[in-house]
Amino acid sequence: MQEQAEKSAGQAESVFAVQVAAMRLESQDVLSIELRHIEDRGLPPASPGAHVGVRLADGVTRPYSVVSGEEGIYVLAVKRETDSRGGSAYVHDRLRVGDVIQVTAPRNQFALADHDGPSLLIAGGIGITPLLPMARALDREGRPWRLHYTASNATVAPFARELQQLGKRVHLHSSASAGRIDLSALVADAEPGTHFYCCGPAGMLDAFVEATRDIEPARVHMERFGAAAPPPDAGSFELRLVKSGRSVMVGPEVSTLDALLQAGVNVDYSCRQGICGSCEVGVLQGIPEHRDEILTEAERKSNKTMMVCCSRACSPTLVLDL
Ligand code: FES
Repeated sequence: MQEQAEKSAGQAESVFAVQVAAMRLESQDVLSIELRHIEDRGLPPASPGAHVGVRLADGVTRPYSVVSGEEGIYVLAVKRETDSRGGSAYVHDRLRVGDVIQVTAPRNQFALADHDGPSLLIAGGIGITPLLPMARALDREGRPWRLHYTASNATVAPFARELQQLGKRVHLHSSASAGRIDLSALVADAEPGTHFYCCGPAGMLDAFVEATRDIEPARVHMERFGAAAPPPDAGSFELRLVKSGRSVMVGPEVSTLDALLQAGVNVDYSCRQGICGSCEVGVLQGIPEHRDEILTEAERKSNKTMMVCCSRACSPTLVLDL
């Protein structure tokens, strides 16, 4: 996956106070919110595919893709999740126009690759949010692209109207009536040199991984919201914390972050999904099993840091800079 970070992982993030300038119901369960800098200065540009962290009243930061972010204003889209830990319910039920909240500087781990070939964009449900600005950018730049968007009822899906304005390159699929789209067939029919981009629910991303198994990795790009489930064969491992001299065991059912928090170790975190970088911790010895969406391939191989919210260990012991 080509990665382009507006802020690189591990760097302290800037935080901006922003005011909710407008809110709009995009579909039955998706609300878009327009955010402007509180001092009416432009916000830093967010390139297509970028996300920002939104700090909500409960103190936890949630990551949201920026649907539109190149004009100094951010538009985000928030789906009301039935199993919400409070973030989406707060946005839908309590956040109102005029409220001031904080957002972190944009990061982009799902940027458009720099290439001349065609781009095939595949979105499912709320996964359209990073792909809509990509489609707009490709269209504006005159680059060849197509987008397939699946939603339970595509005609009333969020941003369906904006997508239809982009013309015949957009293909809407209603999964309630037509079932899943055949990603293997889409990939097989793509022109040579096509770059593939996908964001959507876990089942779609798993099918995308399967469909692109034989494509060179540099042409396959995806963003997974929600940490991958721990592997069924996850084992236990030990954390040795050099600063405190403590040892913490991580069992198969618990995340590294939760084991640390349960042991009373103070660790920063926000998204718990391996996409914000807040929980990055230095690794002094041992080999992490990286499960985040942030570190580059080179950073993973160096094993110098890990995201403890989602990553585990390949070695029996990890020595952490904590
Ligand atoms: S808490 Fe966001 S990457 Fe770990």
